[in-house]
Amino acid sequence: MLFHRSKRAFAALFALLFLLASAAQAQGTKLPNVTILATGGTIAGTGATSTTTVGYTAATVGVQALIQAVPEITKVAKVSGEQVFQIASENMGNEHWLILAKRVNALLAQPDVDGIVITHGTDTLEETAYFLNLVVKSKKPVVVVGSMRPSTALSADGPINLYNAVNLAGSPSAVGKGVLVAMNDQIHAARDVTKSNTTTTDTFRSSELGMIGYIQGGKPFFYREVTRKHTVDTEFDVSKLDALPQVDVAYAYANVGDVAVKALVASGAKGLVHAGVGNGSLPAKTKPALIAAREQGMVIVRSARVGQGIVARNGEANDDQLDFVVSDTLSPQKARILLMLALTKTNSTKEIQRMFYTY
Ligand code: DGL
Repeated sequence: MLFHRSKRAFAALFALLFLLASAAQAQGTKLPNVTILATGGTIAGTGATSTTTVGYTAATVGVQALIQAVPEITKVAKVSGEQVFQIASENMGNEHWLILAKRVNALLAQPDVDGIVITHGTDTLEETAYFLNLVVKSKKPVVVVGSMRPSTALSADGPINLYNAVNLAGSPSAVGKGVLVAMNDQIHAARDVTKSNTTTTDTFRSSELGMIGYIQGGKPFFYREVTRKHTVDTEFDVSKLDALPQVDVAYAYANVGDVAVKALVASGAKGLVHAGVGNGSLPAKTKPALIAAREQGMVIVRSARVGQGIVARNGEANDDQLDFVVSDTLSPQKARILLMLALTKTNSTKEIQRMFYTY
């Protein structure tokens, strides 16, 4: 009798252990849910021949075709796709950013979405990534990806970039890292990455501040953390915004005058980023127009066209006296993004300068 009872107990214990092991195995192989939001660009581009790597048409291939072209994706994630836009990214505008940001936040609020990949043209990819880095309100991974060769080209980089991006977006190690850019087997933080070459596949660089990791064999490897606040830790909320304040960039160079600055002021810009030479220097022929713009209430940010380094406050100009803001290490195009969002919160140059030292 005792033998039969212990035999039944053993069988029950074995069955329980088997069920637990199966559940654990299922959990261990549970694929993440990744949504791909397609916006266009070269990754969705097509050329006349397989050797056409310039002179192709961007933004022609739909999101489902992009996914079907990389069947390996379905082995690493449960993927769904949405065609948000179909544009070349030189045409990306504030209105596109607001639509995209609201869709990203709505999707990430869903418990059945673990991460998002945004396919995008490379020309303004860094700007969209930085904008989202400031307004996405989730710690879940958001990965922006593009390609330098069209989908029809020999050794097109789009498929492997997309495969890497989906892996990254579904990876727990990418949670809380801010918006990421995955290109050329590298992981870059949105704040510091820039397109550095017109056509080569290694164009995305974070130069002196450095990329934050690699993707190898589909797996992300991180080597550094970003120090500036992003996503859930920012004060910016676009959920109720239908438009962003107009902010423009005026570029400096030898012999520049004040025509561009005056035209931007006349166009009704609320803020202006000056892409100065050197350490953000203000040419004498331009400075009076910038001072007048400030006196009219425009917020002026002194940035630099050089691409690396800190634009020092009160360095090449007396910012305290002029009541200007300096861009820290942000490029002019990214300083414009932060100034736009700052102006949705305040006109105080003191507060805005704090933001440039925070994000
Ligand atoms: N027209 C450019 C763009 O959509 C093509 C460059 C690319 O996507 O790599 O950004």
